[in-house]
Amino acid sequence: MYVGVDYYPEHWPKDRWPIDADLMHKAGFNVVRMAEFAWVTMEPEEGRFDFAWLDEALNILAKRGIRAILGTPTGALPPWTLRKYPEIMAQKPDGQRLTWGMRKHNCFTSGVFRLLSERITRALAEHYKDHPAVLGWQTDNEIGGHPMCYCHSCRANFQDWCRNKYKTLAELNRAWGTHFWSQTFGDWSEIVPPDKFDEHNPHTCLDWKRFFSWLNVRFQKEQVDILRAVCPNHFITQNFMGLFSEINYYDLAEDLDFASWDNYPVGGKLDMANNYNAALAADITRGLKRKNFWIMEQTCGSHGWGTMSRNPRPGELRKISYQQLAHGADGQIWFRWRACTVGREQYWHGLLGHDAKPGRRYEEAARTAREYHLLDEHLANTTVRADVAILYDYETCWALQIQPAYEENKYHQVIARYYQALRRAGVSVDMIKPGQDLSPYKIVLAPDLYILPDTLARQLDAFVKTGGVLLADCRTAVKDETGLCHVRTLPGLLSDALGIRIEEYEALRGGVEYQVDGTAGLPGTFTAIHFADWIKPTTAQVLAGYKDWHMAPYAALTRNKHGQGGGFYLGTIVKEPSFYDALVRHLLDAAGITPEFTAPEGVEIAIREGAGKRILFLVNHTEQCQTVAVPSGKRDLLTNKTTGPSVDLPPYDVAVIRL
Ligand code: GAL
Repeated sequence: MYVGVDYYPEHWPKDRWPIDADLMHKAGFNVVRMAEFAWVTMEPEEGRFDFAWLDEALNILAKRGIRAILGTPTGALPPWTLRKYPEIMAQKPDGQRLTWGMRKHNCFTSGVFRLLSERITRALAEHYKDHPAVLGWQTDNEIGGHPMCYCHSCRANFQDWCRNKYKTLAELNRAWGTHFWSQTFGDWSEIVPPDKFDEHNPHTCLDWKRFFSWLNVRFQKEQVDILRAVCPNHFITQNFMGLFSEINYYDLAEDLDFASWDNYPVGGKLDMANNYNAALAADITRGLKRKNFWIMEQTCGSHGWGTMSRNPRPGELRKISYQQLAHGADGQIWFRWRACTVGREQYWHGLLGHDAKPGRRYEEAARTAREYHLLDEHLANTTVRADVAILYDYETCWALQIQPAYEENKYHQVIARYYQALRRAGVSVDMIKPGQDLSPYKIVLAPDLYILPDTLARQLDAFVKTGGVLLADCRTAVKDETGLCHVRTLPGLLSDALGIRIEEYEALRGGVEYQVDGTAGLPGTFTAIHFADWIKPTTAQVLAGYKDWHMAPYAALTRNKHGQGGGFYLGTIVKEPSFYDALVRHLLDAAGITPEFTAPEGVEIAIREGAGKRILFLVNHTEQCQTVAVPSGKRDLLTNKTTGPSVDLPPYDVAVIRL
């Protein structure tokens, strides 16, 4: 297993490099990621390359058995690029170019930028293709987060992209509903990139977001093509940003060998929702290529650019790592080795502080690395296997940003309500791309599936008919691929599977809430917030209804039998998390799933399996001791003891048990 750290030798005097490498070796590290922002150090002036410093650093590391992932350095532009080619900077809608001095501020349709990016990538690849210390490549860094560019070139490229997609103007005019507000185009050159997503034509906005994502993917592909041709024996990955959603990550992952991601949970709240977000991000990343992933940047200290986050508490740095291992991480790299004395990231603390003294954080990482090496043989060829999948769709996410229908309609929050309840029940979840084969799953949740193409609706219907359990909820099936409203009573083509008819609906604003009354099947009183469908069951059974006089004829939660399977529909958002726990129990029951293990609140359960092995992870996210029932007579891989009927987990501790 590869475990290590992000290392920037160019930030430190050379006489420090062997000391750093010794300390890394002592910690059990066998990999570093390097060079992803070192463009000016590698190409100090156009076309003149200097890799001597990197050769020297790599050789020092290699002598200690440490290998490297190299980043293509295109995330930050050297000053000479701007002096010679000012047009490479992205342009704001008002015509102003961005000010140089940050990172990620280039235009992606600039031919010059693309050539410069290809040239440094090729030079690096040629130089390191046979270097024994180089393991693989990271393209750029955290692709996405660039400002959208509104220059003439981007506008013309968008027009071409539209022409390629729609072929005829008549088709584009239909798909964008341009007879509204007098927008019918008579020529491709009339198309203007939108910049106000809450005011401009929503169909244009959706395609502009698709175009922007496509530009980023094309940029990466240009680098990947070079790396594949020159370095056929190296792997290629990219460090994704978990829940970040501006880029269609399925597309971005397509050209890579595996996905990686950057995990910074201590920047969030000290609560379980935040811990579950890190789990959700891990499951999303695993879903991108349906295989295990790496952590390319793992939290190891207090961090921030101007103000700081809290510091990981004793044991927490190790716990954060184990959570990712449990969700399918096969390699892990801490960000960063040492807090930098210069530049914008001086407060982004590494395993070492500014003073370079190995202390608590270094020791905890070293302990984790040593343990990872012991676990290596047990984890080889294992991954998470799930009976439950959640459809995760970037295009729906963008469409909801453009027209959320109710203010609080944040795609990830909607997903998180179900995801957290599933995880509380000890159930593993796959996050899957719409259209993916559903046959491995017993339950599919399709939260907030606002954009519902007919093909996907038919696939979901067939999934239920043949025995699957589907959950859908409010705003499902409202629109087609280009964002035109379906001319069907909701939930459209899912009406048979769900056995309901949605007669009307509304956003609940100004403090309006409804009382949800559960039936005997789901007892309790709950609170409907944010949105309510006015649902009439056709064939479905009502699991919860409304108390308020005008809502009394309508259902809040329904369950339908359709063919061999079942369709559940929740027509509102419920304030109480316990409601989602009850709903998940219903889904599991309908699918005949009994979770194998249960744990107290705050302890995560995960299983990796494969090659005849099953490994149970227990991760205590709390600062209290927790006791978890486990099967007796199994091997606890971290203590090397045989398990009794339960294990005790001190604060932030973990257990890894071979079942
Ligand atoms: C990450 C990024 C790193 C570093 C870190 C701290 O998002 O990938 O390069 O900048 O943030 O700002």
